[in-house]
Amino acid sequence: MKDLFDKIYADKGPLGRWADKAEGYFVFPKLEGPISNRMKFQGKDVITWSINDYLGLANHPEVRKIDAEAGSKYGSAYPMGARMMSGHTDMHEQLQNELAAFVQKEAAYLLNFGYQGMVSTIDALVSKNDIIVYDVDAHACIIDGVRLHAGKRFTYRHNDMESIEKNLMRATKLAEKTGGGILLISEGVFGMRGEQGKLKEIVALKEKYKFRLFVDDAHGFGTLGKTGAGAGEEQGVQDQIDVYFATFAKSMASTGAFIAADQEIIDYLKYNLRSQMFAKSLQMQLVEGALKRLDMLRTMPELKAKLWENVNALQNGLKERGFDIGTTQSCVTPVYLKGSIPEAMALVKDLRENHGIFCSIVVYPVIPKGLILLRLIPTASHTLQDVEETLDAFSAIRQKLETGVYKRLTAAMAAEMGE
Ligand SMILES: Cc1ncc(COP(=O)(O)O)c(C=O)c1O
Repeated sequence: MKDLFDKIYADKGPLGRWADKAEGYFVFPKLEGPISNRMKFQGKDVITWSINDYLGLANHPEVRKIDAEAGSKYGSAYPMGARMMSGHTDMHEQLQNELAAFVQKEAAYLLNFGYQGMVSTIDALVSKNDIIVYDVDAHACIIDGVRLHAGKRFTYRHNDMESIEKNLMRATKLAEKTGGGILLISEGVFGMRGEQGKLKEIVALKEKYKFRLFVDDAHGFGTLGKTGAGAGEEQGVQDQIDVYFATFAKSMASTGAFIAADQEIIDYLKYNLRSQMFAKSLQMQLVEGALKRLDMLRTMPELKAKLWENVNALQNGLKERGFDIGTTQSCVTPVYLKGSIPEAMALVKDLRENHGIFCSIVVYPVIPKGLILLRLIPTASHTLQDVEETLDAFSAIRQKLETGVYKRLTAAMAAEMGE
């Protein structure tokens, strides 16, 4: 009989397999210094384009002050226990009420982490006779939530209305047999390519099909819509989103998350969300910190305006220089280039070492073979000078990529990888 660990000794998994080549540099890099537009990587100054601090709140003096004061007032333990048992406070309720009002819903409920919260919310919303219909490019937390579902699930082609309708039709037929309902899950903004979920078109299908819509708006919250209420507000359909989710990990520059919906749905969820019922409550420092951040989202529209000034400068600048930035409709800025994995590694190294640009890199198998995706996240703390330097750096690396400089540099590695 095999030892359980044999497979681990033999293979570290699809990403872990690259650890000896990538760790510390391409994965698990250590960015140092205060979170901002410019940080240090391996002792060098870099412009950071890989942090979802959209509104630049992470290191805002008012935020730092409230975090420090709340830390000293409550420590990191308070309150102890799960919300249902001994971890409930007025301030948790106040934050929920304010979040609900901000995203134009009747009620909200706090989640300790977005990921587990999403998994748990999907789990709580469906029972075995129900059918889930969801985007094939959904975030891992949606996929894991769907994995818990004991009934049927259908994926539709990414953001494809024809495929959505076809799968709603299949789901409707099946639901008539099982006696269940349908949950459609989309993201407000797809975090890798930046497209918004087609919420307006999806909502229009409610006239023909009976389903409930659950939107993960991690990247839309705080960045999209007139008031910052997200992709639903941007598309004029916020009231048609049945369950709304956002995390504090991006625009709010913190930890925690929430769901918002009609009061009756939240009343049900708060008694049925296993990730919250059996886990310690969100600590007070995070709750008080979130109240402050939310207040800033409401009262400082200049943060979102600055964010979009940078987004527009970066995206227009890239397009003017002929870069392919796909079909983004959000702050997420992908740049698609053609090249092998070794070329991608050499190019990113050049960006970091010689141009002082730090951005994330995505390659096969996450995207098709032969494509390199550099993902830039503009924030309100960037400057137009950062954008200019970055555009120049991108022009320089593209020139090298196209003239085979990286290919020559990495020939040995490419041969080793069978590319
Ligand atoms: C689309 C999406 N959903 C959910 C999450 C998970 O949120 P959290 O970081 O709060 O666990 C993320 C990442 O933060 C995300 O990008």
